[in-house]
Amino acid sequence: MQNANQSKNTGPLEGLIQEDHFVGWVYQMDYEHALILTNDAWKLAAKGVPQNCFLVAGSPQNQDEIVLLRVTGPASLAAEDKTMQAKIESCKSRKANQAAHAARDDSQFGGLQCRVLGTFYLRDGKLRLGSDIESYSTGAQLEVYRPSGAALETIVNYISPERATAAGEEARMLGLKGDMPRFAIGTVRYASTDIMHRGDASELATFHLNAVDFLARRTAVLGMTRTGKSNTVKQLVSVVKRTAIESGMKIGQIIYDLNGEYANANQQDKGSIAEVYPEDAIRYRMIPAPGFELILNNFYRQIEEGHNTLRGLIEASKVPRNADMDAFLSMDFQEPRREDCNNDFDYNRQMEQYRMKVGAYHTVLARAGYEPPPDFKISFEINPGVRNKVNRAVDPATGLTPNEAYEWFQSARAIQEELITAKGASWIGPDSNVLINMLLQKNDQGSYISGFRVLQPFRDYHAPSRTTDVCDEIYSHLKDGKIVILDLSVGHPVQRERLSKRIVQHIFNSSMAEFNTGNYPPHVVVYVEEAHNIIGKNAALSEIWPTIAKEGAKARIAIVYATQEVSSIHPNILSNTENILASHLNNQNEINELAKYYDFRDFEVSLIRSQDVGFARVKTLSNPFVIPVQIDKFDPEKEKQRVGKARQLKNHQASTGART
Ligand SMILES: Nc1ncnc2c1ncn2[C@@H]1O[C@H](COP(=O)(O)OP(=O)(O)OP(=O)(O)O)[C@@H](O)[C@H]1O
Ligand SMILES: [Mg+2]
Repeated sequence: MQNANQSKNTGPLEGLIQEDHFVGWVYQMDYEHALILTNDAWKLAAKGVPQNCFLVAGSPQNQDEIVLLRVTGPASLAAEDKTMQAKIESCKSRKANQAAHAARDDSQFGGLQCRVLGTFYLRDGKLRLGSDIESYSTGAQLEVYRPSGAALETIVNYISPERATAAGEEARMLGLKGDMPRFAIGTVRYASTDIMHRGDASELATFHLNAVDFLARRTAVLGMTRTGKSNTVKQLVSVVKRTAIESGMKIGQIIYDLNGEYANANQQDKGSIAEVYPEDAIRYRMIPAPGFELILNNFYRQIEEGHNTLRGLIEASKVPRNADMDAFLSMDFQEPRREDCNNDFDYNRQMEQYRMKVGAYHTVLARAGYEPPPDFKISFEINPGVRNKVNRAVDPATGLTPNEAYEWFQSARAIQEELITAKGASWIGPDSNVLINMLLQKNDQGSYISGFRVLQPFRDYHAPSRTTDVCDEIYSHLKDGKIVILDLSVGHPVQRERLSKRIVQHIFNSSMAEFNTGNYPPHVVVYVEEAHNIIGKNAALSEIWPTIAKEGAKARIAIVYATQEVSSIHPNILSNTENILASHLNNQNEINELAKYYDFRDFEVSLIRSQDVGFARVKTLSNPFVIPVQIDKFDPEKEKQRVGKARQLKNHQASTGART
């Protein structure tokens, strides 16, 4: 088979024409469309002309340009009515199962309708693609060829010199050294049936992804269930990892893993991201499990966060409400700030009340069985008058164990009438009063309430051994270039949603703070699986996910989101998305949503019809049009080897002092 390199000329433009892939002539053309006369024999010689395939058309009289076309469907030839009659007559004259007569030449001709994608030409010796045609000649009868192999690779991996320069510039700003890295992620595929155009004798054309298209950008991975979205995400994670290793740059990646498939090797796929990158992947879960860090916080240390967690869980449960429970849920554990107070006296008074409230809250937690940190002491100041009445021998300011604090509050409550000040004011604030009610299981009227027992079922959400906020810990892993996998397959959905938001908000805030102080924030790529569960379609623009989609680039945060429904994506996120990889969609509504973007409309028939796994239509920032690609299957073993090699090479370069 002749390939692009064997064509009659070897220049970049002529290289696009493969003479033995001739499929016909353009017989009609305008700025948008071209109609092609083709013939069964030519189509066969060119290994078929599937719908959506690329064609190139050139004129022997004008060798300065080649028009790029995409087949969108059949076209009827004016003489077809007559030949149709002849074809039908020929069929009628045959007996059942009788071999066909040799077809008459006329009946072998047919028409193809194409969309004009642009014009390839040369400038300064470089191949360029204009996104239209400058002029067309009605009678020119351009020759049309179906490109494959190297010629097709040139077409699908084409990047304009301007984009290449801009990308090179971006790469330098991103800290990438050397050439702009790009990675093979699949091969061109036009149709579900691919015996001819991807058969044994065909040369496949590899499609590459440019790393800079993904960093600090937004990418959508769309398609029905089991069509290869997660596989694509795994490919992207590995592309980014290799970019990081090869460029010596730290790129943090965080995966919102709703099904636990990145954290755990599943039986079908053998090999998870965690297994492929054992030194770089850190797994988090909401429920303790070997090999996993806890996404949770220590309720004794992250007081506000712990209380927010309890609030979410209680509100989502069927706990009977009473006045104390309502008051507990609406409590606020924010520490008083000096600037919000009138004077020092006021501030000190508020701080005293706050410390007592926290002390009472910690005592409630301990009573409900939340394990306190080792040697944990509860301390709060109390005025000497009250202190001496409750128990002369005990000063809560010096620190009490949770049990001692419980006894102290019990004693205080027993004599509370005596503790009322001369002016009739209570000795404690209203929040502390509610917490003591919960602790002692009695409301203000002395009736029984469940109190601290309501908190008992949620003990698993408290991480006793954690000393720092989990968000800080995750951010520092990301800064360190690690892959953080949040296994969200277990745990309460309310907590899942809250934590997901809180973590990404923390990443955004921390990175924006770096940006605002003139520093370069770390590179972070956030992958969200089953995005419709995490990113609300109707979220206000000020909420975190739409904010990241709009402003994440400044903070060097990229988002990759995977979902089955195009229509479930927040409209502002979708319209800010630079890269889209879409496989099979099962209804016209979803197709219509997608067809609003780029030239996805060309693929409406094949997207709804072909259910093949990994068969994606891909538009990236650098590519000027949508390219149909069969995504490679993520191969854990191969990936381990690649990573090993990339590291070896990097170490070798470092040890020989080569430029990194
Ligand atoms: N490009 C591919 N080539 C071959 N097999 C693939 C490819 N992509 C995915 N698969 C296989 O197809 C199955 C489904 O893939 P995957 O889990 O990626 O789909 P999904 O779209 O994420 O599905 P879900 O909606 O259930 O999350 C898996 O067993 C996977 O190994
Ligand atoms: Mg999936």
